[in-house]
Amino acid sequence: MTTLNKENLSPAAFIGVRGKDIISFGSGEPDLPPPEEVYKILPHYTDFKYGVIQGLDYLRDALTRQYPDSTADSFVITNGASEALDLTLRVISNYEMSQPKKVLMTKPYYYSYPRLVEFADMESVYLKTNQGRIDMDDFREKVQDCRAVLINSPSNPTGRVEAIPSLKEIESLTSEYGVFVLSDEVYKDLIYIRENYLIQGPHVVTINSFSKTYAMCGFRVGYFWSLDKKLVQDVIAMKTHTSMNTNILGQEMAFEATKVPRKFIDDQLKIWQERRDLLYAGLKDAGLDLWNPEGAFYMLPKIDNAADFVWDMFTKYNVITYLGDWFGAEGRVRFSYALDTDKIEEGLERINDYLDGR
Ligand SMILES: Cc1ncc(COP(=O)(O)O)c(C=O)c1O
Repeated sequence: MTTLNKENLSPAAFIGVRGKDIISFGSGEPDLPPPEEVYKILPHYTDFKYGVIQGLDYLRDALTRQYPDSTADSFVITNGASEALDLTLRVISNYEMSQPKKVLMTKPYYYSYPRLVEFADMESVYLKTNQGRIDMDDFREKVQDCRAVLINSPSNPTGRVEAIPSLKEIESLTSEYGVFVLSDEVYKDLIYIRENYLIQGPHVVTINSFSKTYAMCGFRVGYFWSLDKKLVQDVIAMKTHTSMNTNILGQEMAFEATKVPRKFIDDQLKIWQERRDLLYAGLKDAGLDLWNPEGAFYMLPKIDNAADFVWDMFTKYNVITYLGDWFGAEGRVRFSYALDTDKIEEGLERINDYLDGR
């Protein structure tokens, strides 16, 4: 086994690491419970056979209520948003298109994006950001030369939400140039400042999952939604020969989640907001420079010698944080606030201790 040291730090070293005295600002998984309705089916569950590749028809039908103009045929239920991203990129990469195999995304980015693009034999092109949001001048300059654009609003790792005029311009420019949009909306229900704006059009693929909104990460249920019938069929064809159907028990549980009243999400949002306020104020008081998150559950302060910070906080203070470099954000550290307020307070104390002694 490779010994962990400052030079080889990676998310894999921290994912799933738990311990009594460990305070983890690392993981991007909600610690809040899923709706209790999803457990109720367990004692009566009996189906262990292969499922339909596209996904349970009644789950796809239930999703149509969230997406205007959709039909059950326009969804594919996937192993989390991750599989939806992977399949879409690989399918698009195989298309004959005038644009080169380039995918536009912001920097900072969700750390899997560049890897998924690379696995699909494509190339990542990075957009500049202003205050954590897309620099639209840079977007206008680069979009024509790309085959697809990855949008993630609210964003992991910045917690920023794109302005509606920017999203509308992205929607229309990509339509004009025939560029696909992969809109990763896994945090669409976790926005503190306004309603979500859904980017739409035949060239748009909406990607979402039950991992964050319903705290069901481990069940691996997500989905792909598109009005492009050929793309839907091509994604199903690829899934047939890769993962086949998505976990059927997970899909049944996701179906139960679709029936839960909106109040479940609103109540959780209040908890997220309270934690955001606490951590934001604490990191500001510690003298750090950061953006106030408008959605999701991450913060990305600037920290001098970020790798030393992540290493020392882990090895000397039992506090897990993620290095900004993993998200294309050098000189920053990502904090997730998927932990309760007592732990956030304790974590802040340890961070202050460390920073005071630096
Ligand atoms: C922006 C973003 N997209 C996709 C995923 C993957 O989600 P899933 O669990 O649905 O595969 C994550 C998980 O952290 C994420 O932050």
